[in-house]
Amino acid sequence: MVSGAQETEHIAADKRPLGFDAEPDALAAVEAIIRASGINQTLAPIDCPSGLPNQAYTDPAWFALEQSRIFARQWIFVGSDGELPEVGSIKPIEIAGQPIMLVRGEDQTVRAFHNVCRHRGTQLITEPCALRSVTCPYHAWNYRLDGRLRSRPHFRGPNQVERFSEEVNPELDLLPVRLSSWQGCLFVDLSGQAPDLSHWLAPMLARFGAYDFANIQWIGKDSFTIRANWKLVLENYMEPYHVFAAHPRLLAHAPMDVRWSGRWQDHVFYNDYVAPTLTEGRGAALPHYPNLSDEDTRRGAWTTCFPTFCVEVFADQFTVLVTYPIAPDETYEELHFFVVNEDAAHAPEHEEGRKGLLEMWHDLNLEDVAILERLQKGRKSAAFPGSLMSPAWETPSHQLSQKVLQAIVEP
Ligand code: FES
Ligand SMILES: [Fe+2]
Repeated sequence: MVSGAQETEHIAADKRPLGFDAEPDALAAVEAIIRASGINQTLAPIDCPSGLPNQAYTDPAWFALEQSRIFARQWIFVGSDGELPEVGSIKPIEIAGQPIMLVRGEDQTVRAFHNVCRHRGTQLITEPCALRSVTCPYHAWNYRLDGRLRSRPHFRGPNQVERFSEEVNPELDLLPVRLSSWQGCLFVDLSGQAPDLSHWLAPMLARFGAYDFANIQWIGKDSFTIRANWKLVLENYMEPYHVFAAHPRLLAHAPMDVRWSGRWQDHVFYNDYVAPTLTEGRGAALPHYPNLSDEDTRRGAWTTCFPTFCVEVFADQFTVLVTYPIAPDETYEELHFFVVNEDAAHAPEHEEGRKGLLEMWHDLNLEDVAILERLQKGRKSAAFPGSLMSPAWETPSHQLSQKVLQAIVEP
């Protein structure tokens, strides 16, 4: 017979059945950080304290697991074609903690490379820029825009400049990263093993059969550094429960009674509403996609392709929001704004509408940042036993914890 204390210990040590395949090493790494009790909490139903435990929001070891098991194995949006307007345009970005760069070549093709010199591993590019070629600041190895090493001075001795022919030289050229694009949106897959981009995007795009994205045009971007874990940003993005308390302008556009929780279908989250009317920044000022029904004209829809490709679609826009984990308590967020056609993007009479769209998104995001930073601070409390989420509004946010766990452990 076991005493009461031993019995409690026994139950805590027993894990709930995962319900998905797990690689033993990855599962052991998870257990070492959040223990069996943390896995239980993650898999617990919404009507008990549940969700990933605090360590998943604060612990560097957990953060490293997410980077290597999720962000290095999935398609990650890295920017838009419009950010690289000319031959030699370069954008550096960090994915899964690794320095990457996007480069537009002489042939107008955008390529992705590991942003490290083949000599000693120096980070090559630190800021967005436009260059004829890439020269390492340390010993001046010089690379062409397609990644091939062009020259290295003094390497073989004083005043000898080694020049390389047009041939590919895998030992010396910049290391490529798999890149794929859709309608001006650029994605990389560090693993090189993810399913085709089109396959990954298809279920999300299928939700938008009524919208013609063929001519969308990038008009600019915005960015935020948030002192909060990326999952808090995403959970907040998905649930409309906080709209009545945090977003007066959004509430005026679409009141609580036209909203619902949304839902996940495999790796795609989808939520929407049909607003009573159009407002500035949400359909009122810019040209619309052609042939939308009245209902679709007033619809606002937001989706996530796990892990972090988030898209909001209104009658006049295609807005991308992406979170990049920088540290357990820091997230870099980029928003990219696309409008429906050339006219919407460039015509002077739409200047005000474009400005209104960018301002609306900026203000709206600022309303979330302070809350997110307080959420992160709350995760330092050892007394917090897990979230008590609303079954009416937060089921998808609740399920995100399970999706993160699954993505870390799955083979
Ligand atoms: S590290 Fe780049 S040239 Fe030496
Ligand atoms: Fe919000």
